[in-house]
Formats: sequence, structure tokens, C-alpha cells
Amino acid sequence: MANQNLNAAKNAKKDEFYTQLVDIENELKHYKAHFKGKTVLCNCDDPRVSNFFHYFSYNFEQLGLKKLITTCYKNQNRDLFSQNDSERAIWLEYFGDKNNNRVPDPEEIGIHYLNGDGDFRSQECIELLKEADIVVTNPPFSLFREYVAQLMKYEKKFLIIGNVNAVSYKETFQYIKNNQLWLGASIHSGDREFGVPNDYPLNAAGCRQDAKGNKFIRVKGVRWFTNLDYKERHEDLILYKMYNPDDYPKYDNYDAINVDKTSEIPMDYDGMMGVPITFLDKYNPEQFEIIGLDRYVEDNPKYGHRFTINGKETYARILIRRRQQRTGDVVETCHGASLRTEQPHPYPQSAPALPMAAEPDAEYNSK
Ligand SMILES: C[S@@+](CC[C@H](N)C(=O)[O-])C[C@H]1O[C@@H](n2cnc3c(N)ncnc32)[C@H](O)[C@@H]1O
Repeated sequence: MANQNLNAAKNAKKDEFYTQLVDIENELKHYKAHFKGKTVLCNCDDPRVSNFFHYFSYNFEQLGLKKLITTCYKNQNRDLFSQNDSERAIWLEYFGDKNNNRVPDPEEIGIHYLNGDGDFRSQECIELLKEADIVVTNPPFSLFREYVAQLMKYEKKFLIIGNVNAVSYKETFQYIKNNQLWLGASIHSGDREFGVPNDYPLNAAGCRQDAKGNKFIRVKGVRWFTNLDYKERHEDLILYKMYNPDDYPKYDNYDAINVDKTSEIPMDYDGMMGVPITFLDKYNPEQFEIIGLDRYVEDNPKYGHRFTINGKETYARILIRRRQQRTGDVVETCHGASLRTEQPHPYPQSAPALPMAAEPDAEYNSK
């Protein structure tokens, strides 16, 4: 029984990672124009510890928000480590600073009780979701698929934190391929620090405690996932390598070349290329077209398996193809001169006008 409790506690705790304010600020600065006049929902956020609530309440006027809604989840599975489970789940609404002291005072924040535990999937939370224009949070990673599916179902704009591994979930990848979801602007490598509950075991790798006793843990593979557009994702990746068959062998069982590093994508290869998952950190949808994920491309002769080279399975690969300039397109050279392209477009059917899932970003489109 004791073991069962401990396992349940471990599972519950796995979702308790509190995002640091600096990481929120570094990402949010890329999207300011999207937020004007909008209702923001943070639906996995205890306002007492959530830096998302902190960020949006303190920057309410600067962003020109219409309303901020926060819902707080109460885990009703009582166990050793449950968070505040004697209280009822609540939701908060904030309409901005009323007394001009530039601080969200308690009397300016409306506190309401929920009937249930604040599960983002509950009907009362879905009603709040319907009210929202943009959802911004770090949802429980164990429910990432369901969380994104719900955002898509209700056609919401969103900016959420997840793990890069989610990219290779079949559903997430399909959204990325269809240009309905992409990686955010600020995190492309390394690890990030998250706050953890006080009962978190200090022996966990990468754990530290500050002078006030607050605990933190470093997590690898963190990424923002969004459907809000931002300037940098339309910048071309600068390529410098030329194709040669020795450096870029073809797969045994699929007509594509293997590229081990995103920075080494050959600039002159027009066919299909298998690139690492981290390509998505540099992905400009006007420069490349995503064809599929190795295991799940329909014509993979060993569907469900990765490609091989000389019989050896490669790491996970995303299949991409360069988008071509059409014949007669005028392109700028790096010396500022203009050239007219001579080559006919080899993939006229598969390079349609790009469906933009996000609204254009007024901030940089107007420049
Ligand atoms: C990764 S933590 C992030 C917390 C907060 N959003 C932040 O970034 O600091 C995920 C939070 O989701 C809460 N949570 C877990 N399951 C949930 C559910 N079904 N509905 C809503 N929230 C949930 C957890 O209690 C946890 O606090």
C-alpha cells in the first residue's frame, strides 16, 4: 500500500513544474502584437505559484489585454504529496488595474469557485476556454496530446510549453506538417530551470535549493509550441554545403538522402532529405516543405520503423524538400544583385501557397 501511495505521488508530482518568469518574458516578447484587446486563459495555473498569472497580470496594460482568466487545478486524489487538496478549485478573472497603482491588487481580482477540480477537460473549464482568444501555459506533460487536441478542437490560439519529444507524436507532427503548430522563438537547445514542490526529492539530478529553501530542477528538451506567428520563423536558414553522394548517402529503403546536421543541409539538393528532429528549431515554411516523419510516411516499406543505411537504423528523421523558386522568379543574391531563375519548378503540385494558420503579425508585417 505504501508503495502504491508513493507511486501515485510520484506520478502526480511529475506534472508539478513551475515555469520561471524569465523564460516567460523571453518568449512573450516575440508576440506582443497578438495580445492587444485579447482575453488570455492560463488553465493549468495556481495563481499563488504561476508566473504566467504573474506575467499577464503585471503586463496587462502594456499588452493592452481585455481580460485574464486563470484556472487552478486541485488534485483530488489524496496522497502524500497532493497540493492544497483541502480547498476547492478556483478560477480568477482580472480586468486590469483600477486604482492606477500598476499592481494587480487582491480586490481587483475576481475569485470564483469551480464545482469540480479544475481539470482543463471539464465542461466548466471548457466554457472558460470558449471565452478565451489565446491560451498560454505550461500544461501537464503527461496530458500533452489531449491538451493540444482540445485547443485544436476549439480553434484557439496558443503558446504552451512542452517537451521536444512531443514533436514526434503522430498527431503533433501532423499539425506541424500542416502548418497549424510550430516551435516557439526563444528555446532551441539546452535545459531550463523549473520550480518544484518542497517535497520534491533533492537527490534528483539537476536539483538545487535557493537560500529561501525553494527547490528547482533543470529539464532538458523544453520547447514552446504555438500557432502564433513570429518574425524569426520566416528567416531562411543560411546553408553553405554542396551535395555530394559520400557525405549524404541515400537510405537503403527510401529515396532520400540522409543529413546528420541541420546546418549541413546541402544548398543545391532538390530531392527528398532526412534531417534531425531539431531541424524544426530552424524551420522556415517558405524555405522547406515538410513531407513526413520517417516512421510514418505512407510509402515507408517498413511502416512504423526508421530508415536504414547499410542495414543500420538511423536516428529519427524528418523528411523535407527545398521549396524552389519558380522559373522567372527574381531572387536577390547575397551581393544585392537581382537574378532571374532559369530552372523550372520541379514540384509545382506539392508546393501550394502556404496555408497560414496564424494571423499575420502586425508588428513586423508593417515594417
Ligand atoms: C507543468 S505544471 C505547470 C504549472 C504552471 N502552468 C506553470 O507553468 O508554472 C502543470 C500543472 O498542471 C496541473 N494539472 C495537472 N493535471 C491537470 C488537469 N487535468 N487540468 C488542469 N491542470 C492540471 C498540475 O497540477 C500542474 O500544476
